[in-house]
Amino acid sequence: MGHTTVTMEKLVALAKQRGFVYSGSEIYGGLANSWDYGPLGVELKNNIRNLWWKKFVHARTDMVGLDAAIMMNPKVWEASGHVANFSDAMIDCRNCQARHRADHLIEEAYPDMKVDGLPTSELTKIILEKEILCPNCGKRDFTDAREFNQLFQTSIGKTEEDKSTIYLRGEIAQAMFVNFKNILETSRKRVPFGIASVGKVFRNEITPGNFTFRTLEFDLMEFEYFIREEEWEKTFAYWLDQMQSLLLQMGFDPTHTRVREHTQEELSHYSKRTVDIEYLTPFGWKELFGLAYRTDFDLKNHAQHSGQKLEYRDPVTEEVYVPHVVEPTFGLTRLTLMTMLEAYTEEQVGDDTRVVMKFHPSLAPYKIAVLPLSKKEELQSIARPLQERLTKRWYTDYDETQSIGKRYRRQDEIGTPYCVTVDFDSLEDKAVTIRDRDTMEQVRVPIQELETWFESKLS
Ligand code: GAP
Repeated sequence: MGHTTVTMEKLVALAKQRGFVYSGSEIYGGLANSWDYGPLGVELKNNIRNLWWKKFVHARTDMVGLDAAIMMNPKVWEASGHVANFSDAMIDCRNCQARHRADHLIEEAYPDMKVDGLPTSELTKIILEKEILCPNCGKRDFTDAREFNQLFQTSIGKTEEDKSTIYLRGEIAQAMFVNFKNILETSRKRVPFGIASVGKVFRNEITPGNFTFRTLEFDLMEFEYFIREEEWEKTFAYWLDQMQSLLLQMGFDPTHTRVREHTQEELSHYSKRTVDIEYLTPFGWKELFGLAYRTDFDLKNHAQHSGQKLEYRDPVTEEVYVPHVVEPTFGLTRLTLMTMLEAYTEEQVGDDTRVVMKFHPSLAPYKIAVLPLSKKEELQSIARPLQERLTKRWYTDYDETQSIGKRYRRQDEIGTPYCVTVDFDSLEDKAVTIRDRDTMEQVRVPIQELETWFESKLS
């Protein structure tokens, strides 16, 4: 895999130019930190999501899915502790009114200083003592740091008078906890089992940035795995291993990821132990996935606030208990970004630099590109039906413009694993040339045998 040559500037430019990611509302000047996934980005993101779902839901017997509403009863977020605890310490510049996350301000000035979990008063003290300047205006005139809740608020109601505040979900987890009883009764799963879900979440992030790394809305894939309390350490180790195995399956170099244990101060309000899987980005080691032991915190709180019993009765022993939970969580938009960073490769070919997105074939947006050597009718009459045929099984591209060399480079840049070239010899030998993205090697394969050939490479 590439990685060493990539910078954010190069990646953002390629993502835009090739149709992976555009700035949101671009024709109106954009909207800060909102991004739209173009024709190739949506394929990449969906392929990652489908791989995840296949690995963790369909290929197992202990997992079921849920697709829940983004807007939930506000009592959910009170019971979960998010209204009281889901916050970041913010500090305002009195001179230019810019608002900053206090921990980020310190970490940007002193990258080695660990400030996670420090109380706001401590953060204020460090910012003052270290004489940190406002990155926006360069002045040193800050307020004290204050907690700022990350839940995104909106309101519902037909008239102004009956409008009430609700929150857009800040994690999917809560939907899985509040549906625990429904799912238990309808799926007949037995502990240990998991509920998986994928969807949008929203957070009032004050310092979003680094392209799609930290945004106000993003896609999350997560599951809650319900266990007996005494199983938690074993289950935690098992899922950590499974999370790493997903990255290997996706083609990540293991030296580009690492596991980081959260300190006691840093733990979320619901967690007894959390580790992050971090990825080495061009802007440093950053969180990619999280794994948390949430104990029985959520089910107990929802039982208490809703008045409903959220328990499990063991059908064999008749024992009744509140299951404990281990939660692996995967930011899908963040994983899409890191998959692009990991795939980005530059190679010297003669005097030329070849940019190749070395996506694992299962993740590549297009699997095959059909390229007639010229626009002549006799080649098109083979190439078009060939694309129709292959598209029934794999997502394909078709390109007949510019030189074949330029077309290969274009497919390399979007990570298409194979190019099929129809040339004038094809009229005679009824065969085509297949070019491999990574090795650039070419083989001649009879048109009739293409499905079998690709089946062996792409399945
Ligand atoms: N239910 C647990 C939970 O939500 P989290 O660590 O707050 O845990 C989960 O978030 C994952 O979501 C992170 O590991 C990261 O990949 C991703 N993520 C968090 N905040 C994000 C943001 N503002 N933009 C994009 N992805 C984000």
